[in-house]
Amino acid sequence: MKSDNQNNDTLILTIAKATQTIVLLFVLAILVVVIGIIEANTHAIYKAFNQPEMNTTDSLAQKQEAKPDYWVAPDVATIPNSPEGELIKYGRELIAHTAKYLGPEGSVMQISNGMNCQNCHLEAGTKPYGNNYGSVASTYPKFRARSGTMENIYKRVNDCFERSLNGKPLDTNSKEMQAIKIYIEWLGKGVPKGKEAKGSGIVDLPFLDRAADPVRGKIVYEQKCASCHKKDGSGELKPDGKEWLYPPLWGEKSYNHGAGLYRLSRFAGYVKYNMPLGVSYPESQLTDEEAWDVAAYINSMPRPSKDLSKDWPDISKKPLDHPFGPFADGFDEKQHKFGPFKPIKEKRETRTKQRK
Ligand code: HEC
Ligand code: HEC
Repeated sequence: MKSDNQNNDTLILTIAKATQTIVLLFVLAILVVVIGIIEANTHAIYKAFNQPEMNTTDSLAQKQEAKPDYWVAPDVATIPNSPEGELIKYGRELIAHTAKYLGPEGSVMQISNGMNCQNCHLEAGTKPYGNNYGSVASTYPKFRARSGTMENIYKRVNDCFERSLNGKPLDTNSKEMQAIKIYIEWLGKGVPKGKEAKGSGIVDLPFLDRAADPVRGKIVYEQKCASCHKKDGSGELKPDGKEWLYPPLWGEKSYNHGAGLYRLSRFAGYVKYNMPLGVSYPESQLTDEEAWDVAAYINSMPRPSKDLSKDWPDISKKPLDHPFGPFADGFDEKQHKFGPFKPIKEKRETRTKQRK
């Protein structure tokens, strides 16, 4: 017969063992839960990084997923406090407020139409796909077929003065040109020579299967643009009367027909990810069709002209959407202006292949 003491001991031992097992099971359960949470999170993080574009209809968006590794302009706070730094700051000021210094009532010279470079090169030339200057310092001087020559930054800046700002060129030695150049170089200093920064310039939208349509474009314009740029495209001045609150899109005070924006692909790519004001890549409020059509409408309206007889000395190098003949590919001015561009592209590619 066992004594009461022995019985008690067995009981205690059993309880102890049971507790041990429960604790062990508990710890195991916690481990399983913790591992589960870690797994789930890893999946969420992985998914977040690999999420495809919201806008899946866009072939460009598919090619270049929105990654946070776009070129970012250097911080203005890092501009040195030196004579060189002062020139960089002046350059930035001239890009942002060109009209104040160089417009029709400019305080330094009167050589341009009253627009600011920043009206088209948004945020002083730093906005992703906002026609920024990220790749200028790294890629110039370069050969450009429009002039048929090697172009340096001075030449490219003056192109925009003479075309986009429908004005006169700046003297290369002027303080203003030096300031603009040094600012553009400072912006691009982190981009290796010969490389293009991601997100620089303007997006290339896919071509439509049809010609861009100014009639449809007018409807887009009146619904999504006219509230700021005005029904007649003339824009609105700021109260100071010098700079634009909303820059003009056509008419005497707008860019001339030698400007980059006069090419439909440049205009469509620019507005798709920047207009109406406040839109930023990869978001957009315009379908590709609306972007092409509104470009066709605006670029069918009157604007200043320019002598372009010296442009594109090699006519076979004209961009598909350069709207002025003669052309080497047999398509007419109308198709080169509005499209459809795919047949032109295909014919040119077949010819190149045949020549090889
Ligand atoms: C009306 C719009 C407009 C205005 C105003 C304008 N530009 Fe431009 N600029 C363009 C377009 C369009 C391009 C060509 C972009 C492309 O082909 O991708 C361009 C290209 C450039 C480039 C070459 C960019 C590159 O990556 O190769 C430079 C430099 C430049 N502009 C400087 C200026 C300066 C400086 C001013 C002011 C004096 C100015 N632009 C005003 C529309 C404009
Ligand atoms: C909410 C007002 C607003 C709306 C709506 C708007 N824009 Fe703009 N747009 C601006 C402003 C402001 C600028 C100049 C940006 C700057 O200087 O920073 C500008 C600049 C431009 C430019 C380059 C400068 C020029 O005058 O050539 C183009 C092209 C343009 N807009 C086209 C459009 C089109 C097309 C639409 C409609 C799809 C549109 N905008 C809708 C306010 C607007």
